[in-house]
Amino acid sequence: MKILVTGGAGFIGSHTVVELIQSGHEITIADNFSNSNKEVLSRIKLITGQETSCYCADLRKEEVVNRIFRIERPEAVIHFAGLKAVGESVADPLSYYDHNIGSTINLLKSMRIYDTRIMVFSSSATVYGDQQHMPVTENASLSVTNPYGRTKLILEKMLEDAGKAYPEMSISILRYFNPIGAHHSGLIGEEPQGTPNNLAPFLMQAAAGVKKELKVFGSDYDTPDGTGIRDYIHVTDLALGHIAALNKGMDHTGVGTYNLGTGEGTSVLQLITAFEEVTGKHVPFVVTDRREGDVAVSYADTNKARKELGWRAKRNIKTMCEDMWRWQLQFPKGYKNIKTLEAEKR
Ligand code: NAD
Ligand code: WQD
Repeated sequence: MKILVTGGAGFIGSHTVVELIQSGHEITIADNFSNSNKEVLSRIKLITGQETSCYCADLRKEEVVNRIFRIERPEAVIHFAGLKAVGESVADPLSYYDHNIGSTINLLKSMRIYDTRIMVFSSSATVYGDQQHMPVTENASLSVTNPYGRTKLILEKMLEDAGKAYPEMSISILRYFNPIGAHHSGLIGEEPQGTPNNLAPFLMQAAAGVKKELKVFGSDYDTPDGTGIRDYIHVTDLALGHIAALNKGMDHTGVGTYNLGTGEGTSVLQLITAFEEVTGKHVPFVVTDRREGDVAVSYADTNKARKELGWRAKRNIKTMCEDMWRWQLQFPKGYKNIKTLEAEKR
């Protein structure tokens, strides 16, 4: 199938592009590289042996999006592009509405014009807010506490409205839990710009000595060891979830919303311990106050994705730690040390 992958140069997008190519799909990426690096395209080629077509494009521009559709005529869109930093969204909300909502409206308009029927959309478990009951199911009440989360909630509603108005469409809304890890080859992975906000990249930088110590945000939660519990999912499993949604979209119409997680919770201290056991590296850490806005526990009920998409996550925490550490060791500067890779190829 011919698929347009927006944000395909980013963390989750690049891993999904690899799996899509390896499943025989024809891929075009559209990304403005505001949070990614063009070197990822060479790495995708190293893994898959194939060149990927890519537009350096800002999806907020309607005419640019239309041009891509006119040339490429995609049968499906997997829509990752957007901004994702919670703190930044509080400081600069308009950028978040502009990028996340503006781009999605443009894509939907072009999909209508060019008869592209299938969309797979990146939502987030952040739409669940603070839940009483875990694991959380897709029909739980929704609430958000920051502009980033609000863009996801608004987009979910917008996609539901579009699905009702245009019954030929197939829209999958995928609510990701906490994606971590890296491709098994260690050639692609997550490359946070500046100081990482998320646990896994910060933990790796602390283990590598790039950061002095990891701050553990709170040890007084109502959890067995007092630290926050999350549902960490290997980015390759997440990527495969998109292929499952795409396959469903081929012979179904309507809107489907799915949790993509493992269904298992891991605390901050458990993740540190697992990482230390797997890598033999010490992770220096200090316990600090809770981070504002954090919930104590979040993990997915994965039954719906299992039953309706025939998908489940297979990689455990050990594999997630091994793979992200391989990426860190091979490319400590992420995509910035292009010369190293060139030297390796010679
Ligand atoms: P990422 O920042 O690595 O990838 C997003 C990509 O979109 C980047 O390559 C960026 O350059 C591109 N982009 C941003 N604005 C654009 C625009 N206007 N036009 C074209 N390209 C643009 O992020 P990611 O972690 O791969 O996340 C992908 C999607 O998944 C996002 O929508 C994010 O909100 C969602 N999500 C991520 C997580 C997570 O923890 N990583 C969790 C839940 C949901
Ligand atoms: C995980 C756990 C922290 C950093 C965020 C977004 C969410 C989604 C995924 C996009 C928590 C603790 C963290 C650190 C720590 N993104 N922690 N020290 O908060 O579950 O979700 O990313 O949609 O919208 O809110 O992920 O990785 O930031 O935190 O102790 O330096 O690690 O308190 O318990 P979170 P996270």
